[in-house]
Amino acid sequence: MCGIIGYTGGRPAVPLIIEGLRRLEYRGYDSAGTAYVQDGELQVVRAEGKLIELDTKLAALDTSRARAGIGHTRWATHGVPVERNAHPHIDQDGTIALVHNGIIENYQELKDELTAAGHTFRTETDTEVIAHLIGAVLNSCIVEGVPEEDCMIQALSRALARAEGAYALAVINLAEPDVIYGARHSSPLVMGVSDEENFLASDIPAFLPYTRNVVYLNDGELVRLTKNSWTVYDCATAKKIERTPQRIEWDIQAAQKGGYKHFMLKEIFEQPMVVTNCLTGRLSPDHKHVTLPELEEMPVPERLHIIACGTSFHAGLWAMYLMENWAKIPTSVEIASEYRYRDTILGEGDQVLVISQSGETADTLACLRKVKEQGAKVIGLCNVVGSSIARESDTVIYTQAGPEISVASTKAMCSQLVVLTLMALFWGRRKNLLTEMAETECLDTLKRIPEHLETALPEMRETARALARQYSGARSFLFLGRGSCYPLALEGALKLKEISYIHAEGYAAGEMKHGPIALIDPDFPTFALALADDLFPKVQSNLQEVQARNGKIIALTQDGMDLTVDSVWKIPHAWGPLDVFFALPALQLFAYEVADYLGKDVDQPRNLAKSVTVE
Ligand code: F6R
Repeated sequence: MCGIIGYTGGRPAVPLIIEGLRRLEYRGYDSAGTAYVQDGELQVVRAEGKLIELDTKLAALDTSRARAGIGHTRWATHGVPVERNAHPHIDQDGTIALVHNGIIENYQELKDELTAAGHTFRTETDTEVIAHLIGAVLNSCIVEGVPEEDCMIQALSRALARAEGAYALAVINLAEPDVIYGARHSSPLVMGVSDEENFLASDIPAFLPYTRNVVYLNDGELVRLTKNSWTVYDCATAKKIERTPQRIEWDIQAAQKGGYKHFMLKEIFEQPMVVTNCLTGRLSPDHKHVTLPELEEMPVPERLHIIACGTSFHAGLWAMYLMENWAKIPTSVEIASEYRYRDTILGEGDQVLVISQSGETADTLACLRKVKEQGAKVIGLCNVVGSSIARESDTVIYTQAGPEISVASTKAMCSQLVVLTLMALFWGRRKNLLTEMAETECLDTLKRIPEHLETALPEMRETARALARQYSGARSFLFLGRGSCYPLALEGALKLKEISYIHAEGYAAGEMKHGPIALIDPDFPTFALALADDLFPKVQSNLQEVQARNGKIIALTQDGMDLTVDSVWKIPHAWGPLDVFFALPALQLFAYEVADYLGKDVDQPRNLAKSVTVE
């Protein structure tokens, strides 16, 4: 996830900017840059790689007279991580520089318009287009005679009215060397304020050693900062808004975790934003259809072979139900470490989908190479841009979840599920299998999920915490589910065992009586996924079988479902299989609360690595 910092005050700005970027390093990045005005000139310095590369370039320059500036660490979501794509980007006249976190969806349309007006672009980035647009609108404001002190706010307000998508921006203008501007829409931006210097950043750690007084910007707000003043504006009207700073009491480590105790918890709570980011740029302008340019050139697969490991495998297994049901594509889902050594058979129109958060998992990569040798077309579904799997796939779709720091995967799976849903809709539509109503209903639900989930998560966490206290004495757990809830049962068990070290098995509920039922006794609890789907009555019968053996049951269910079990945990309804976006965080939170209650090292469980690059 990109990191932004802006500084204005009495001290040399550049070292403070670099230091701030260093404190944002935990967010992950692949290139960095800074812009500042010194001696009447706008300077932009950028470098591919780690901050040391940027530092080396800056060491050769005298930056000591700049008192304001902006900086950025880029975590690529589109476009390779090279210097040319690193921020800041500048406008046509070279007087505006800006850094950006987010995606401008309509950048091509804006770029075409600006190109026709004589602009030339140096990069393929959406960010450069915004810099040019702001510069162009600023020039019009000057021509119209807008008072000098209002010009930039007017220009930002008018320019951003045309930008669709998500952004947090920090901007500087050659004409006002000691002023920084910011804007926020769907990407985080916060100010750190004091009497003598002010900061703008994507996250509090960037400025925490210097001020604990913060103002969180809301969507649709603009801000102007000087060394001893800060003013917030409504972006649409350019009118001033009153805001009061809040005092932060966290230490730097807690601040990096956004005030959460662990990265895992932070990442679970980031899932509403992850859904938003995954949808960004992937809906048609009327929001009725899916647009996936990455798949446009490829035919709809006749058969789909999904290959992955661990949590990514569970995401693939969940997607199988959608691919078969909505797109009528025969789908098989394979564990990479098994698939690579089998005599697998791929048909003429078959395609392979490899799913990997890291894009570096050795077994998954080996499968990719194997099927490519067999002549198959490979779609990669990855989170890390430029990773081996992303590079070697015929086409890659990025999940845009941002870096996942906790070893246990949470938000990455959420992002995979969103993209897989979009893929099933995309192919279903290309095969004329979907009614417009079903597609619209599904997309409308997806769009509502972030807000709905944001509201539901705190209460879900409370329930998970209470259940964790009640059940954390168990030595073993059984997770049961049927249909598209079966992969969730596998994932619930995986999450619990990997971070709490309690043995847990995920099973297809109907398969239980073929063996595992022998384990059931009052000390062996079952966590059942009993959601409101067609298979609910079947799950209900399976749970009666557990109860007949005195087994204790936690049932994850929904309003209107008739269940008498030891612990009923109701989650909100979404729509059909999209209930997964509530069920998944419930499972994650349960595992998290059990592990935390037992005092385990939640973010770094023993024996595990984030990226499994060995066989
Ligand atoms: C579980 C977990 C692992 C990964 C697996 C695949 O929480 O993180 O099971 O899902 O190692 O990793 P990727 O998706 O990077 O290929």
